[in-house]
Amino acid sequence: MLQPLPLGERQRNRSSEAQMLRTLNTFALDLMSIPSVEDLFWYVAQNVVGKLGFVDCVIYQADEAQTMLTQVAAWGEKNPFGRNIINPLIIPFGRGITGKVAQNRAQIVVDDLLGDSDYIADTQPARSEICVPLFCGDRIAGVIDSEHPEIAAFGEAEQEILSTVAAMTSAKLELLAETQRSQARYEDMVVAHTQLTKEIRNRKALEAKLFEARKIEAIGTLTGRFAHEFNNLLTVISGNLELLELEAPETADQDTLQGVKTASDRGAQLIRDMLAFAQRTRLSPVALDMNRLVSEFCEECETTFHSPIEQTLAHDLWPVSVDPSAVENILLALSLNAFEASPDRSGVSISSENVFHTLPESALFPTELNPGRYVRIGVSDRGPGIAPEHLSQIFDPFFTTKPVGEGTGLGLSMVLGVMRQSGGTVVARSKITEGTTFELYFPVASCGDVVEE
Ligand SMILES: Nc1ncnc2c1ncn2[C@@H]1O[C@H](COP(=O)(O)OP(=O)(O)OP(=O)(O)O)[C@@H](O)[C@H]1O
Ligand SMILES: [Mg+2]
Repeated sequence: MLQPLPLGERQRNRSSEAQMLRTLNTFALDLMSIPSVEDLFWYVAQNVVGKLGFVDCVIYQADEAQTMLTQVAAWGEKNPFGRNIINPLIIPFGRGITGKVAQNRAQIVVDDLLGDSDYIADTQPARSEICVPLFCGDRIAGVIDSEHPEIAAFGEAEQEILSTVAAMTSAKLELLAETQRSQARYEDMVVAHTQLTKEIRNRKALEAKLFEARKIEAIGTLTGRFAHEFNNLLTVISGNLELLELEAPETADQDTLQGVKTASDRGAQLIRDMLAFAQRTRLSPVALDMNRLVSEFCEECETTFHSPIEQTLAHDLWPVSVDPSAVENILLALSLNAFEASPDRSGVSISSENVFHTLPESALFPTELNPGRYVRIGVSDRGPGIAPEHLSQIFDPFFTTKPVGEGTGLGLSMVLGVMRQSGGTVVARSKITEGTTFELYFPVASCGDVVEE
């Protein structure tokens, strides 16, 4: 029969038990704020020795495949390197005491290591050892191992303490894994949301582009039909005017006749621009050197308007296949706009360069431009720029910000129509107070086209 312990010893036992409970409680509270698995392992190793009074503590982490243990933290006499492990030990599941614990998923306590065939002695052989498994869910997360230089150093109390520590560490490992999983889920959701937002934005841009294309197409058809009918009427009017001039030159009032002729010529020009917008101009494309055409145009401009245009022309410009007089009309319309926008008509420039267009879906372009080689001609000014709310309208026929009677608003419509009909396009880039650039994209001539001298 067991003898009851004397009162003094019972009190001593109770107070050391209470002390241990307090320590484990602090341990549990500390674990709550540990942010990572690495910090957790180091905290446990350090405090199994520091707070719980074990001689040493080594923690091994199991790999994903559940075949290997790797030393990840160690504290005590055997590790003088602080929070650092030089040459970490790697032990296969099933080998040695630690390997056996990982394989059998159960703790092992060895009272005398000299009699244990599984013991792998190192530079400082011990006499007793305790090793407990760590779990994360139903997987082995690692083991906590502690050795002691004396025989049977790990009694019931030590075993209970270390299994409590292992249970707390396992719970924390599970919590960290869950945190990591929710973080990954959150990141996936952020990626999916960003992707969705991007797709919605692209769809909206595409819809806007489609709307713009349909609008231009509808106006184009209407303008084309109207211009065609009106052209017939105008032909009759100007034909009759010529007859009147020929048959009764002395009776006709010359001033009135001249007035009617000027109005009819202006009407004819309007019709030409409207037909150009509707892409019904008769074009005669030839392969040509755009640099030469630009230089000649600039010279002529300077003679006519006494306003120089700066030229920045690329060497070895690819030849393009276009109607030269249509291009001159385009350059004239853009240069006149640029002069009108520039103070003192200065600061206007024309550039040329070879470009590869690779973005078939680019939202910037008013029409789809097929991927390929283009010669880009830029007409720039340093004027006040175009207000953002006007930018989407400037190519519409009859859109003008000029006072009534001063502008037709057909210049840019003609440019867009001819550029499209030539297989290219025009893009406007403008910044308020910084100026405007119109970029003309001309498709490169095919190999068979002979460049005009
Ligand atoms: N370089 C530019 N700088 C600022 N605004 C411009 C420029 N080019 C065109 N615009 C704007 O685009 C509008 C339309 O130009 P467009 O050439 O089609 O007609 P317009 O110049 O008004 O009339 P017209 O060409 O018959 O004289 C202009 O009224 C102007 O508001
Ligand atoms: Mg104009």
